[in-house]
Amino acid sequence: MQIVLDYLKRNQARFVAELCEFLRFPSVSAQPQHEQDLRDCAGWLANHCRHIGLEAKVCATAGHPIVIATTNRAKNSRKPHFMVYGHYDVQPPEPLDLWKSPPFEPRIAGRSLFARGSTDNKGQHFAHLKAVEAYLKTGTPLPCDLTFVIEGEEEVGSANLAKFLKSHRRELACATVVVSDTGMPSPEHPALTYSLRGIIAFEITLHGPSRDLHSGGFGGSVDNPALALSQLLGSLRDKNGRIAIPGFYDDVKPLTAYERKQLARLPITDAELQKLTGVKKLFGERGFTPTEQRSARPTFEINGLTSGYQGEGSKTIVPAWARAKITCRLVPDQNPARFRKIVCNHLKNICPPSVRMEIEAGHGAEAYLVSPTSPQAQAALRALRQAFNREPVLQREGGSIPIVNDFKKFLGADTLLLGLGLPEDNAHSPNEKFDLDCFENGQRMSALLWPELSRTA
Ligand code: BES
Ligand code: MN
Repeated sequence: MQIVLDYLKRNQARFVAELCEFLRFPSVSAQPQHEQDLRDCAGWLANHCRHIGLEAKVCATAGHPIVIATTNRAKNSRKPHFMVYGHYDVQPPEPLDLWKSPPFEPRIAGRSLFARGSTDNKGQHFAHLKAVEAYLKTGTPLPCDLTFVIEGEEEVGSANLAKFLKSHRRELACATVVVSDTGMPSPEHPALTYSLRGIIAFEITLHGPSRDLHSGGFGGSVDNPALALSQLLGSLRDKNGRIAIPGFYDDVKPLTAYERKQLARLPITDAELQKLTGVKKLFGERGFTPTEQRSARPTFEINGLTSGYQGEGSKTIVPAWARAKITCRLVPDQNPARFRKIVCNHLKNICPPSVRMEIEAGHGAEAYLVSPTSPQAQAALRALRQAFNREPVLQREGGSIPIVNDFKKFLGADTLLLGLGLPEDNAHSPNEKFDLDCFENGQRMSALLWPELSRTA
C-alpha cells in the first residue's frame, strides 16, 4: 500500500494539470449548444482512462454519452466487484460576469482550483481515477474489480442512465457503489453522508393576454400574469416558513431525538452559515435548526422567475405570460409521483380564472437513506480516518443524486457517499472551486478504501 500512496504523493502536480485539462470542456448538460462539448469531454475521459490502464468505452444514449471504464476483469473473477459513479456534466456557468476568471479556464490560487465542474463533479471522481492509476502503474494488485460509470446527465436528472443500468444490469451488478459527489463540513471533518434529499422539478406558466399589451390602454381591465403568479406563489408559504400546501408534510417522519442530537454535533454554526451564504438573516421552517432545515425537511423553491420586459429602461406592457421554474426537495418516505400530484393539484385549485395555467413536469427522484452502521459504512469510515488523519463525521445532506436509488433498484447495491466538496466550494454558483488538499486526501481515501471494502464482501 505504501508504494501506492507514494506514487500519489509524487504525482500531484501532473494530476492537477490533467484535471485542468478535463475542466476545460464546457460540458454543460442543460444547454443544447454544448452537445458536442459533452461528446468531446466523454471522449477525452475515456482516452484518459485507457491511458492509466483501464479498459474504457463511450456509450451513446438518447442524450449525452456515458463513459464506462473497468479494471481488467477476469471472466471467472472471484474478487468482489465495486462501482464508482461520477458525472462529467456541469451546471450552467451563468451569470458569467460574477466569475473572477472564465469558468472553463481553470485557475489555481493557493490550494484552490477554480473552474465550473471542479468540485461538482470532475475533481471528485478524478480523485478515484488517480487512485486506481496508482495501483495499476505501480503493479500493485487490486483486491477487487472496479467499474467506473461516469455519466453526462446528472445535472439534468440522469434520465438515460437509469435505462442504461436496466439494460446492463448483469455487467454492472456489484456489491457496493462508491460516489464522491457530496460534501464534508470542513477540511478537518471527512464525512460519510447517509442520506440525500429527493426532488421533483416542474415549470408553471400563467398565460394572460394573447400578446404583450399596452399597459396604459388595457392595464386594469385584464389580469397581469406576472402579478397573478407572484400572488399565487406568495400564498404557498406562511410566515413561519412552512409550506402552505395541504398534504405537503404528510409522509414526513419526525426526526428521532437521537438523530437530532447527532445533526446538532455537525461543526457548522448559524453564524458561519449566514456568512457563507451572504444573507442578511437566516430564514427557515420554524421549529427546526438550519442543519435540519437543509437536510431533513422538504422544501419548495423557485429556481427561476421570468415575465415581461427584461431589457434596459422601462417598457409599459401587460405581459402575455409569466413563468416560474420550481423544484421541491423531498425527504425519505415521500413518494415523488404522489407528492407531485399534491403540489400540482393545489396549484391548479388556486389558479384564478383570469389566467390559464400550464404545468410542465420535469425530473423526479426519491430521497436516499442508507444505514451508517453497515460493515461497508464502517470500512469507509476507516478509509476516511486514515486518509484525512481525522475522525470522520456522519451527516445527511440536502442535495440530490437521483441515480443512487436506481443503483439499489437495478443492481441491488447500496451507495457509499464519500464527498470531497467543501461548503465554500461554490457548487452551482459563480467561482466554483475544488480544494487541492481534498483532491489529494480523496485519492488516498480511494486507495485505502478498496482493501477495506473488499474485506466486507
Ligand atoms: N453533487 C450534487 C448533489 C449534492 C449537492 C449532494 C450537495 C449533496 C450536497 C449533484 O451534482 C447535484 O447537484 N444534483 C442535482 C440533482 C438534480 C439536478 C436532479 C441537485 O441536487 O440539484
Ligand atoms: Mn450539481
